[in-house]
Amino acid sequence: MQIIFDCSEAAIKKAAQALIGGNLVAFPTETVYGLGADAMNEKAVCRLYSVKARPKNHPVIVHISSINKLGIWTADVPDYAIKLARKFWPGPLTLILKRSGLVEDYITGGQDKVGIRVPNQPVALELLKQFEQLGGIGIAAPSANKFGAVSPTSAVATQEEIGAFLGAEDLVLDGGQCLIGIESTIVDCTKYRPEILRPGAVTIEMVENTTKLPLALNLSKSDVKTSGLLQTHYSPKAKVVLDQNPEAGDGFISMASLPTPKGVMRLASPTSIDEFARELYVAFRAADVRGLKKIVVIQPEGGGLAIAIRDRLRKAASGK
Ligand code: TXA
Ligand code: MG
Repeated sequence: MQIIFDCSEAAIKKAAQALIGGNLVAFPTETVYGLGADAMNEKAVCRLYSVKARPKNHPVIVHISSINKLGIWTADVPDYAIKLARKFWPGPLTLILKRSGLVEDYITGGQDKVGIRVPNQPVALELLKQFEQLGGIGIAAPSANKFGAVSPTSAVATQEEIGAFLGAEDLVLDGGQCLIGIESTIVDCTKYRPEILRPGAVTIEMVENTTKLPLALNLSKSDVKTSGLLQTHYSPKAKVVLDQNPEAGDGFISMASLPTPKGVMRLASPTSIDEFARELYVAFRAADVRGLKKIVVIQPEGGGLAIAIRDRLRKAASGK
């Protein structure tokens, strides 16, 4: 495994060639780092699953360079999904759509629908462009962490997380720190109205305002349904505890307005919700590097991205 620190056009071309050759390439996106494989290469995708130690029935998101490539992967795309793609791609939005005849079970975990995203990060977009110029049509990329663990948001975190499991020819592209810091919003577009499966930086209000459709049942603005997705996920090694008073020796994450009690290790002091999302996984990793046993997090209030943060926190807290 090699980390590429200087992601010049020539270096990204080599990475695209590595993908075409059946190797794995971890790359930055605006949300988290992804572990990429040529989506049409079953052997490469299988190796991706084994590096992550991920169960076979878990579908992966296919990344494409633009909305123009959507038709290759999907069928019967509803109008509201096109509106979402036009509005938010490239961006932190994954659309679940009926799959085309080309899509194999090893991508979708046997389901008849496929997850597609156009990421908004210059290195990722250049990689997709070069990969498509070489004849590729999509890069399968789950978050570049071990199954159930915290998604990495930098190249170094990616290397620490999975570097030991990658092969000699595999690459990690360093595109700096991820700007959003938590995974994309996932919207199921296979029914007559959208359903949010995983909240993210494209918020519930944005989806409603763009589609002009009410979201599917079971979903209020504070309680997002996560059907098909595990409740236990995104967990650091330390135990995550929500909305309690931290004790001496604990790690502590909250908005900057709350003071740090004596003897407690402050891991993040965000001054905005965007900063909270950007720093959350970095703080989780810092706690594990320091060998902390417990992290206390005071959940941020409000709608929008705060809903996505609370979703990840709930899952991290139910991990142990
Ligand atoms: O921000 C992101 O989405 C990152 C970056 C790398 O793009 N990727 C990511 O992938 O978070 P992953 O595999 O860690 O999480 C994707 C989630 C999984 O929980 C998976 O079950 C769900 O998306 N998913 C993917 N395809 C699906 C499908 N066809 N139907 C239902 N859920 C799907
Ligand atoms: Mg993941």
